[in-house]
Amino acid sequence: MTPKAPSEIWSAKVNGESVEVLIPSNAILLDVLRDEVGTLGVKRGCDLGTCGCCTVMIDGDARLSCLCLAGQVSGSDIITVEGLSDGAHLAPIQTCFAEHGGSQCGFCTPGFLISAQALLTTNDSPSDAEICSAIEGNLCRCTGYQQIVDSIRSAAEIHRGEVEPASPASDPHPNPHPEGPDQPSMPPGHAR
Ligand code: FES
Ligand code: FES
Repeated sequence: MTPKAPSEIWSAKVNGESVEVLIPSNAILLDVLRDEVGTLGVKRGCDLGTCGCCTVMIDGDARLSCLCLAGQVSGSDIITVEGLSDGAHLAPIQTCFAEHGGSQCGFCTPGFLISAQALLTTNDSPSDAEICSAIEGNLCRCTGYQQIVDSIRSAAEIHRGEVEPASPASDPHPNPHPEGPDQPSMPPGHAR
């Protein structure tokens, strides 16, 4: 029987928040992010390093979390798809995916978004070849990739300041958890 790995404290910054969790020393980053940190936007596709669904940004680089020991990236700055938006406002890459039809299913899209964001963070004028290279590890079995390339090209224009980002669909509510009335109101036709 294989002896159980000892536990260790793992800490990192995930989407801007400091996290500290107790994990087995041989834990895989994908498992830690999903099961301990709760960032369920990181998807498990193949668990073999071939699909790209589990891509996260680690210190700015797109990495496959299913092939990464959590202990190797302790203390890193990790961004998952949940960390792309700025509160109520989507990141340019997210709005462009929505506008250009780049969004596919919930399994492959998070990885595409992260790979694209990692590219744009270091290169806001990527050629089509560079865009294709950045997403070559992300697989979608269902569609062509043209809309995804178009989305990334369009987001690059926003990053370069040539195009204004689309205005948010709605402004964030000043108080997202307002207190309700003292007495619950009844629906019309239901006299108290
Ligand atoms: S789940 Fe990591 S590459 Fe597929
Ligand atoms: S794998 Fe997500 S839409 Fe094809």
